[in-house]
Amino acid sequence: MSSKIKLGILGGGGDSLIGILHRVASAMYDRYEVVGGVFNPEHEESLNFAKAIGIPTNRIYKDLDHLISEEKALPQEERMQVISVLTPNFLHFPMAKKLLENGFNVICEKPMTTTYEEAKILEKTLEQSKTIFAVTYTYTGYPMIRQMKEMIAAGEIGKVQKVDVQYYQGWINPIIHDSEKRANTWRLDPEKSGISCCVGDIGTHAFDMIEYVTGLEVQEVLADLNYLYEDNVMDIDGTVLLRFSEHVKGVLRSSQIATGEENNFAVKIYGEKAGLKWEQENPNYLYLLEDGQPMRVLKPGHAYNSELSLDGTKLPPGHPEGIFDSMGNIYKGVAKAIRNEDYHPAEFPTMKDGIRGMNFIEKAVESHKKGNVWVSITE
Ligand SMILES: NC(=O)c1ccc[n+]([C@@H]2O[C@H](COP(=O)([O-])OP(=O)(O)OC[C@H]3O[C@@H](n4cnc5c(N)ncnc54)[C@H](O)[C@@H]3O)[C@@H](O)[C@H]2O)c1
Repeated sequence: MSSKIKLGILGGGGDSLIGILHRVASAMYDRYEVVGGVFNPEHEESLNFAKAIGIPTNRIYKDLDHLISEEKALPQEERMQVISVLTPNFLHFPMAKKLLENGFNVICEKPMTTTYEEAKILEKTLEQSKTIFAVTYTYTGYPMIRQMKEMIAAGEIGKVQKVDVQYYQGWINPIIHDSEKRANTWRLDPEKSGISCCVGDIGTHAFDMIEYVTGLEVQEVLADLNYLYEDNVMDIDGTVLLRFSEHVKGVLRSSQIATGEENNFAVKIYGEKAGLKWEQENPNYLYLLEDGQPMRVLKPGHAYNSELSLDGTKLPPGHPEGIFDSMGNIYKGVAKAIRNEDYHPAEFPTMKDGIRGMNFIEKAVESHKKGNVWVSITE
């Protein structure tokens, strides 16, 4: 029998955006094999998809309940060891909860749940289950993001004084101006997405990222969101002012109507001594800015990078690492945890990050709805 970790997948079928990313990422360090799952709510579709990607169909289940009961009936060493939840948002909580209650390790897509309350329930379930739980804030796996984190922690830019993060996309622009299309997109349906579209989908990546790289926690937010149409109840653009403390402040700009933008995610952290800048569309470059000095560009794979960054680099310098590699690094961290190997706590985002993310989404929407007022992030 293969010694690889047996991975099951929920969602991520042929029609999905994110399935391929998880499948490739999980294979990247030869640590996992996909053994089955429920790729699609239609069983026939799931079976066809499994055949198309060359997975035996004997562990392609009708639904999650069948997966749990049939997997638990297998001898322990054959059972799925971890399940990735890649379905639309509203299914993350019920699926992850059931999996944790039945002793499975879980890798869950973001946003972790649809409400903060659900997130807190999931936290309790995890405490009782004593399993491994990761949330895929994918971008935290990039080698140069890990390097940014380590440089800030080592004091290389001095005390952080300004944070600026932007995540601009334009994909909703052709949808939002067409009433039929905007009524038929799950991300604009609060029943499927939760209370927010833009802040919930990409604002949450940006929020997690700034806390990840700075090691600081946002204390208060003031949000101004845009919905564009009266019949659209979901934000599709949001600017959020952030307060970490009296003298550390920042801004988070997220948009899905930044016409023509693709995945323009840019993270800029400025300290007393220097600044660091990184852009997702050119993720192999980390820019170091200093007073009166030429800008320096740091790249992956060089010995000057931290151990955490180098652990996420597979090839010598000059071979670009991208989004698949970034997710691959998260899967690698989870594999180490499952196998009880030593790992750095920054190798994969956890329940705490998922909870902070849900807290942020709710507080940003609350701030906007109360007339753009400061709201504390209590936890
Ligand atoms: N980490 C990231 O960078 C990132 C990027 C994109 C999407 N996501 C997240 O991934 C999740 C999925 O997004 P997507 O864009 O792939 O969505 P999608 O709509 O493209 O795909 C959803 C998939 O889930 C399947 N599905 C739906 N109901 C199901 C059920 N009951 N059982 C099994 N499968 C079911 C669908 O058939 C489809 O294959 C979302 O929560 C989204 O926020 C994360």
